[in-house]
Amino acid sequence: MISAIGKAKVNLTLDILGKRDDGYHELATVMQSIALYDRLVIEPASDLSLELMLRSGVSKWLPNDDRNDVLRAARLLQKRFGITSGARIQLHKFIPTQAGLGGGSADAAAALLGLNQHWQIGLSQADLLPLAMELGSDTPFMLVGGTAICRGRGEIVQPVSAALRKHLVLFKPPGGLSTSRVFQRMELTQMGNCYTDRFIAVVDSKKDDPFDYMNNHLQDAAFKLLDELRIFADLLQQRGVRQWQMSGSGSTIFVVIDEKEQAQQLRRELTPPSWWSFVTRTVDCGAELVLS
Ligand code: C5P
Repeated sequence: MISAIGKAKVNLTLDILGKRDDGYHELATVMQSIALYDRLVIEPASDLSLELMLRSGVSKWLPNDDRNDVLRAARLLQKRFGITSGARIQLHKFIPTQAGLGGGSADAAAALLGLNQHWQIGLSQADLLPLAMELGSDTPFMLVGGTAICRGRGEIVQPVSAALRKHLVLFKPPGGLSTSRVFQRMELTQMGNCYTDRFIAVVDSKKDDPFDYMNNHLQDAAFKLLDELRIFADLLQQRGVRQWQMSGSGSTIFVVIDEKEQAQQLRRELTPPSWWSFVTRTVDCGAELVLS
């Protein structure tokens, strides 16, 4: 039996730089892995199958056919390397869906890593990166993890060596947001300024707090699509919470905090009824094989 974990991410910055000919947007973003994991358990089998282990209040529904990111990764490996054997895969889901936390990409990265081991294909992380790129814009980052600047449509990953150690409180309303819908809603006039470069310059200078320089170009569009996000953001401002932001295309809003106890207290005080919330911390690597 093989077990692999895929970790969620938050975007500390997200700059949309322009629209590309292939329909995607050119972006620059600082991505950060966090200690919120999905777990894959892989066992030998002649056919390929996937069983979803969902948690109520986290994920309502996910496809378990070939639209699922785990099976897309499995089929890609089978096809590319002529694998004829299967695998019985269980996906234990802890990362909420449509949350801007990269759950699907985290699952794809964990599947690449776990099935590479299971089928003894012998690929290195460098070999897996181009396959990850085919599966989604965020998937290469999910293999590398830690803190990284990602460019292009998100697939060009440049690790940042400075360790940003913080606790985070994640807050997510019951409703999710589809990435493509948020991109469509975004006003192109908001694009341009590169907060990502400024954030990294502050990290390098070690003088200021980089978390004072977070920014997300998709936030306004998401707030227009989901009113409760804007109301929650107003609440954070009224309460004097300074370091908060939406992750990716939403719908998660995260708050950055130094101490775990403070984070737990903020979670207790501020989580609106029916919202999902979680206290976590930054971590310095992505998908991993785990001994079980
Ligand atoms: O690559 P991925 O499947 O994660 O992207 C989901 C959707 O998000 C795309 O179909 C596209 O509508 C939008 N997107 C974009 N520009 C990016 C990344 C995603 O427009 N750089």
